[in-house]
Amino acid sequence: MSEKISISPSGEKFPLPKPEDYKVEFDVLKKRIDQERARNREIVVVMGVGFVGAVMAAIVADTVDESGKPSKFVIGMQRPSERSYWKIPMLNRGISPVKAEDPEVDPMISRCVNEKKTLMATFTHDVLNFADVVVVDVQCDYIKEDLGNVRSGQTDMAALEASISVIAEHIQPNALVLIETTVAPGTTEQVAYPIMKKIFKKRGIESDPLLAHSYERVMPGRNYVASIRDFWRVCSGINEEAKKRVVKFLNEVLNTDKYPLTVMDRPIESETAKIVENSYRATILAFLDEWSLFAERNGVDLIKVIKAIKVRPTHSNIIFPGPGVGGYCLPKDGGLGVWAYKHILGFEDDIFKITPLAIDINDTRGLHVGQITRDALRNMGRTIASSEILILGAAYREDVGDTRYSGSEIVIRKLAEMGAEIKVHDPYVDHWWEFEQQDTYPATGQSKAQFFRNQEKLKDIRVEQDLNKSLNGSEAVIFAVPHKAYRDLDPDEVVKTIGQPAAIIDCFGILTDDKIRRYFQLGCEVKGLGRGHIQRIKEETRKT
Ligand SMILES: NC(=O)c1ccc[n+]([C@@H]2O[C@H](COP(=O)([O-])OP(=O)(O)OC[C@H]3O[C@@H](n4cnc5c(N)ncnc54)[C@H](O)[C@@H]3O)[C@@H](O)[C@H]2O)c1
Repeated sequence: MSEKISISPSGEKFPLPKPEDYKVEFDVLKKRIDQERARNREIVVVMGVGFVGAVMAAIVADTVDESGKPSKFVIGMQRPSERSYWKIPMLNRGISPVKAEDPEVDPMISRCVNEKKTLMATFTHDVLNFADVVVVDVQCDYIKEDLGNVRSGQTDMAALEASISVIAEHIQPNALVLIETTVAPGTTEQVAYPIMKKIFKKRGIESDPLLAHSYERVMPGRNYVASIRDFWRVCSGINEEAKKRVVKFLNEVLNTDKYPLTVMDRPIESETAKIVENSYRATILAFLDEWSLFAERNGVDLIKVIKAIKVRPTHSNIIFPGPGVGGYCLPKDGGLGVWAYKHILGFEDDIFKITPLAIDINDTRGLHVGQITRDALRNMGRTIASSEILILGAAYREDVGDTRYSGSEIVIRKLAEMGAEIKVHDPYVDHWWEFEQQDTYPATGQSKAQFFRNQEKLKDIRVEQDLNKSLNGSEAVIFAVPHKAYRDLDPDEVVKTIGQPAAIIDCFGILTDDKIRRYFQLGCEVKGLGRGHIQRIKEETRKT
């Protein structure tokens, strides 16, 4: 049988642990934990060292007591899957498993692993035996069955349920279990608690598990660390003791002097706060979709309209949705709420109108980019089929490398369906797994490829880092994400590098009117989401 390996994004291969490796790992850990306990350090296990868990683990490991001495020893526990195992050896070298634009992330992880020696990672669940606190940062997904219909989807709690079971099988009865995962409301009390209680009973433990919930508001990006450590938190516990323990823990590891905690009576309130928070955001983004079309068809620049409205303090959070709303949270969290109402909380009626509609609008907004690209190419006497189209930006938002549910994915799938040849540039993304491994990523049968025709060749997409190389020869260039590298591009340079006039598509309002004018002067065609005034600039340019 061939050896199973896990490959890091940089291409390094790590063989997965074999059965005999577990005992060795456990012995090493036990010795280390005994030493740490002797130093009076609390043992914290963070389950799942992904985007949230890796940085949360480092923040906890960086904690010091009043005398300035490290007060926690943190072990990141990660299941040794082929996709994720590499994160363990990387972390143990002091290298962040997540690529971050925040300059605090890399030094913090390196400092905690190599200097303070308060952070390590492991693949064995047995480490849970030693935990004083377990922080759960595994994923809880929402699987959509159709494009643009969140209602037909369902929550996939398998990873969370598996984690909760394994925690209950291993922990000491008085360990605090803090669920940070965004969950369907009701999960802590009606899913996690019964699982743990049952297993505790089997183990002869009479006491209730000390279960708590506090959701993450992390924004992977320039303020990655601060968005966890220096930010307000909401929390709750399943009983008074759990509540007391979670408040104590969060007060120790986060900057709660400046950003005080909000403590809710019950976990379902903390869980609901997260879902409402993100549904609200998804809704204010979705609502601009219709006004974006209105603007395009009536000579209005929605970007300027938003700017004008934003000066009013009550409306300062109005934001332009770009070619869709991605990231790991906004596309799914409302779905978790709608699903929970029926499947956890047991209601049969349908009270939700706005939340699912908002998600459906956001999920399909990118399709429109296919139309405007087609029209821009047509105006230049070209057809979209077989045109070479460059997408600038694979990530879901500016200046991050996270491609999960990015609007660009839908844009590309639609363009490929229409026959275009696709090239991609993104300075922050090495591999776009949603395409490269679309048969199995995010899981078998879950790729958005299933909603489009003509997707097979998209497996060959490789994200280019060299902008000039990418631009060269393109027939259309789509500004899909407002990364810093794209905001200051000079039209003359762009067209020179392309080598010919091209269709320029602005999905995020990043082109100024002067740049739009210049592109027209250079023989290009320009179109943009919500940018109806472009036609006026075109006519003015023609007259001169
Ligand atoms: N990424 C964000 O920006 C963000 C923001 C706020 C909240 N959240 C929430 O935080 C949670 C985690 O998100 P993420 O982005 O870190 O996800 P992620 O997929 O990057 O990380 C989850 C990790 O958990 C591991 N895992 C799964 N099952 C496990 C098990 N049984 N034992 C040990 N490890 C296991 C996975 O291999 C993976 O490495 C989600 O609920 C998400 O909604 C994420």
